[in-house]
Amino acid sequence: MIDPAHAFGERAGQAGIAVGRVTRNDVAIRAGVSAATVSYVVNNGPRSVAPATRERVLQAIRDLGYTPDAVARSLRTRHTGLLGLIVPDSTNLFFAELARQIELAAEERGYHILLCNSGEDTAREQAHLEALRQQRVDGVLLIPSDTVASNPKSTGYGIPIVALDRSPLISAQHIVRTAPEAGSALAVDHLVALGHRRIGFAHGPLRLSHARQRLEGGIAALQHYGLSPLPEWLIECNFDFAGGWHAAQMLLAQSSYPTAICCGNDAIAVGLLAGLHAAGIVVPEVFSIVGFDDIPLARYAIPPLTTIAQPYAAMAQRALNALLVSACTPSSEITPETEEVLPVTLVQRRSTAPPSV
Ligand code: RIB
Repeated sequence: MIDPAHAFGERAGQAGIAVGRVTRNDVAIRAGVSAATVSYVVNNGPRSVAPATRERVLQAIRDLGYTPDAVARSLRTRHTGLLGLIVPDSTNLFFAELARQIELAAEERGYHILLCNSGEDTAREQAHLEALRQQRVDGVLLIPSDTVASNPKSTGYGIPIVALDRSPLISAQHIVRTAPEAGSALAVDHLVALGHRRIGFAHGPLRLSHARQRLEGGIAALQHYGLSPLPEWLIECNFDFAGGWHAAQMLLAQSSYPTAICCGNDAIAVGLLAGLHAAGIVVPEVFSIVGFDDIPLARYAIPPLTTIAQPYAAMAQRALNALLVSACTPSSEITPETEEVLPVTLVQRRSTAPPSV
């Protein structure tokens, strides 16, 4: 049986290094670089290292079996390489896809993600923030749960926070989101261009500011064309499949139907499609349906869903960059909350068509 300590001693001995614990200096000597360069490679910064040099350092680390001590490293640098991500509901494919993109972007920068669900509950959100602070994460990406009563904002948690998708109740260093009104206006423009005049909304819970803004943006866009929906065509539901199913029941109970429905998100749209299908109603012949998000499922819905696409990868990259900048900025130099609004686009598939009546 091979004694690992002996095997390691042999490898170190062959490399011309004194036998004992391999140090950062040993790696530097073998790679022909400075000890600082080894640190930049191991810590993924703060200075960048040329790819060829980086590869030499990594090869030396592999050759010598060097393992930087993560705890000692975090004590020295005060960085743990951990980031928190708090989402309202990871079963919503919008948040699942956004989390996937954030994790990919974080891994490229040498960070790991700790995922928490708030369940749209501010008390759970605060408990997660406190737990993440105690874990000494380097920062938190937060998709806030309750977003309406947002004045005045409570102060942060002593850790850098960047909010995504919605404005938070607590103060964040930066917010990355898309424009809810602009997305709804794109959906309405598309339906009006197809010839629809009777357009309704299956919108998300109005206690969430972005749900309210999506509805307001849609109604304002209709008004621009001299149109307005009947009050019973404004159906409030949860941002999930069951919410969409419920919207189908509400819609079919009306005495007068719209010819098209703008949904607050794709989960509502997919639930609505299922509810209509169960009642024997064909889309887009009877109703045209537009979603919001372009979740990975949207293209596989029956029929494939026309929707407003959110820029997942760009949102993830921008939020992560902002968070890492905040994490490296001394608290005395932190500037007030800033905001970035990214564009959305219409993706036309087969759930929309000209009205048949
Ligand atoms: O809260 C759920 C919705 O908000 C998501 O589906 C996405 O549209 C986000 O903005």
